Amino acid sequence: MKSKHLIDLENLSIEELMEIINLANEIKQSPQDYSEVCRGKILATLFYEPSTRTQMSFKTAMLRLGGSIIGFDNPQNSSVSKGESLKDTITVVGGYADIIAIRHSMEGTAGAAALYSAAPVINAGDGGHLHPTQTLTDVVTLYNEKGTLDNMRIGLCGDLKNGRTVHSLIKTLAHFKGNSFVLISTPELTIPQYIKDILNASGSRYTEISSLAEALPLLDVLYMTRIQRERFSSPEAYEKQKGVFVLDREKLKLARKDMKILHPLPRVDEITEEVDYDSRAKYFQQTVYGMYARMALISTMLRHPDRTPHSRVFDTHQVRCSNPRCITSTELYLPKRFRPVGGDMLLCRYCEGRTLI
Ligand code: NCD
Repeated sequence: MKSKHLIDLENLSIEELMEIINLANEIKQSPQDYSEVCRGKILATLFYEPSTRTQMSFKTAMLRLGGSIIGFDNPQNSSVSKGESLKDTITVVGGYADIIAIRHSMEGTAGAAALYSAAPVINAGDGGHLHPTQTLTDVVTLYNEKGTLDNMRIGLCGDLKNGRTVHSLIKTLAHFKGNSFVLISTPELTIPQYIKDILNASGSRYTEISSLAEALPLLDVLYMTRIQRERFSSPEAYEKQKGVFVLDREKLKLARKDMKILHPLPRVDEITEEVDYDSRAKYFQQTVYGMYARMALISTMLRHPDRTPHSRVFDTHQVRCSNPRCITSTELYLPKRFRPVGGDMLLCRYCEGRTLI
C-alpha cells in the first residue's frame, strides 16, 4: 500500500482496493494460513465515540491474525478526561502501537491524528464525515453477493446528510464503471454538496427522491441507514425525522427478487425484524465480511510498516474552517489546511467542509 494511513478509501488505488478485497476472501477461505501474520504486532483502538461492530471487528481481526490489542473505548477512562490534546495522545500511542484505529465525533479527526502518529492510522469513523473501513466491509459484501462492483443501481436510504457510511460508500462506488445512485431521504437529510460534486465529477448518474416505495423496484442494492440521532442539533429536530423510512415485508414485495439489502447497523426501526428472514437481507453476513475486510487491511498495512514520524505541517491559509463540527474547532493548535475549490471557496483538508475566504 502506497499510503501510510487510511483516512479515506481515496488513499487506495482501485488496484490496491481490489487486492484487499481478494485478500479478505482468501483469508475467509483459509483463516489458518493467516493466524500468525501479525504475531508480535499491536493494534491500538482509540474509540472516543460508541461502537459495537467496528471496534469489536477490529479487535477480533487483530487477534485472529495473531497480534495483540490495547486502547480505550471510553475516553473518560483515559487522560483525555484530564484535558489531554489529540496531538499528545496520538504522539504517545503512536510510540506504543504498530497501528492505530481511531473513532471520534468530530469530522477530520483521523486526518488530524495522522499528522502526529509514527504508527499508521486507520479512520474508524470521524463524526458525520467518513467511515472507510465500513465501506471496505460493504464492497467485500457486494463483491461476494453480486459478483461485481460495476453497473449497479444502488439506493441509499435514510440519513444521507449525517451518515458517514453513505458518504464513504458513494465516494468509492463512483469510481467503478456504470454505477448509478438513487438517493432516498427527506429534504432535510439530503447528501452534502461535496459528495454531489464527486458524483458529478465522476460522471455517475444520480437522482434524489423522498419515496422508498417508488425507488424499490429500480434497485440492485438497497443500503438502509438509521437516522443519526446524536448528530441532530435538538431532540425536536430528530423527532421530526425519525421513523419516516421503514422497510417491512409488505414494501419488500415491490423489490426485485435479486436485490441485496445492506445496512451498516445498528438498526433502530428502519428495517422490521421480519425482513431478517428474507434471503435478500445481507446485513448480518455483512458484519462477518467486515471482520475479514479488516484482517486484510491490517495485514496489508503492517506488511511493510512505515514508522517515519510526520514532519511539522504548517498553515496553508489564515482562515479558520467554518464547520463547527470540524476537529479544528476544538483542537485549536491544528495547522489550518485548505485546498482552493474555485471562486472564493476553500475546502478544509480535514473535514471537506467549505469555507468562504
Ligand atoms: C455506523 C457508524 O458508526 O457510522 N456503524 C458502524 O460502524 N457499523 C452506522 C451508524 O452508526 O448508524
